[in-house]
Amino acid sequence: MVYKIAVFAGDGIGPEVIGEAIAALQVVEKTFNCPLSFEYALAGGCSIDTYGVALTDSALRLAKESDAVLLGAVGGPKWDDPKASVRPEQAILALRKELGLFANLRPVRVNPHLLNASTLKPEVLEGVDVVVVRELTGGVYYGRPSERRIGAAGREAVDTIFYTEGEVARLMRTSFELARKRRKKVTSVDKANILATSRLWREVAHEVAAEYPDVQYEDVLVDAMAMHLIRRPRDFDVIAAENMFGDILTDEASMLAGSMGLLPSASLGEGRRGLYEPIHGTAPDIAGQDKANPLATILSAALMLRLSFGQDQAAHAIEQAVDAVLADGYRTADIAQPGCRLVGCKEMGRLVRDRLEQH
Ligand code: IPM
Ligand code: MG
Repeated sequence: MVYKIAVFAGDGIGPEVIGEAIAALQVVEKTFNCPLSFEYALAGGCSIDTYGVALTDSALRLAKESDAVLLGAVGGPKWDDPKASVRPEQAILALRKELGLFANLRPVRVNPHLLNASTLKPEVLEGVDVVVVRELTGGVYYGRPSERRIGAAGREAVDTIFYTEGEVARLMRTSFELARKRRKKVTSVDKANILATSRLWREVAHEVAAEYPDVQYEDVLVDAMAMHLIRRPRDFDVIAAENMFGDILTDEASMLAGSMGLLPSASLGEGRRGLYEPIHGTAPDIAGQDKANPLATILSAALMLRLSFGQDQAAHAIEQAVDAVLADGYRTADIAQPGCRLVGCKEMGRLVRDRLEQH
């Protein structure tokens, strides 16, 4: 069985970090006898430049015909004109929606070697191990109307948050199932004191919670959660959040780990197919300079092996290789500390492959 991977490197540092992730996967192919095929297509700004749209029908078809999608990052100042009707981000939103990837898993584990890389105190960070389960195909990202127009008072704009009970229930079930395999606690995030969608969210969350009496459950308002997450991050296990709350909280959570450059993510639907991408963006300021941290993308490839291909050993080997490189003191600029061994993107990728080959 050959696993088919659709690769969308995207913009900015996307191609650099994707290159290292693919190289790591090619080592896995040999070492674990796990045949992979890679097919490439454009998504985001590069696709706009070539085809005039962020994602072509044939690129979408490629994704749909694959066992997994590996994505770098899309966007950049070149395509940032607020008046533009074609935007790089449309590619990601279309892939998520069209592939039915409603649950975005964003694990945040604080690596003991990187306790000092964070701006937070080591004693707050030690032992932190959470997974944010972000709802990915609903909420304000897709709600209609979403438009700018001229009204009685001049320019005005509207966005819409919309959720159905089914969308909430399936996200909560994914969260509870995951919690069962972990420390058995789900924290659901909402803004039920203000939003009707959050009140529905909370109601449905409680109904699903009743199906999982063995899992501890709590609701936390999103503003309070932003605080608790940096004050007492160790108290959380699985954090379930609607699309935009999850987007914001995971950037915050990345600071627990020390850098956005470390956090992988998996977007899953009903089947085994998933989309795997680092949570970071295109970092245009360092693009093309061999400075990016490829670890988030390499770790996303590990999640792909585990969650879409069932290759647990290979996934674990990649994670161990990353740990070993960090333990040896190698750091990209985003996590550099005095006395560390500063390396670029390519060198970091090579170090991981070396450890992987020794496996
Ligand atoms: C993320 C990103 C995306 C999002 C953007 C690039 C569309 O911030 O994956 O967290 O908002 O979902
Ligand atoms: Mg984000």
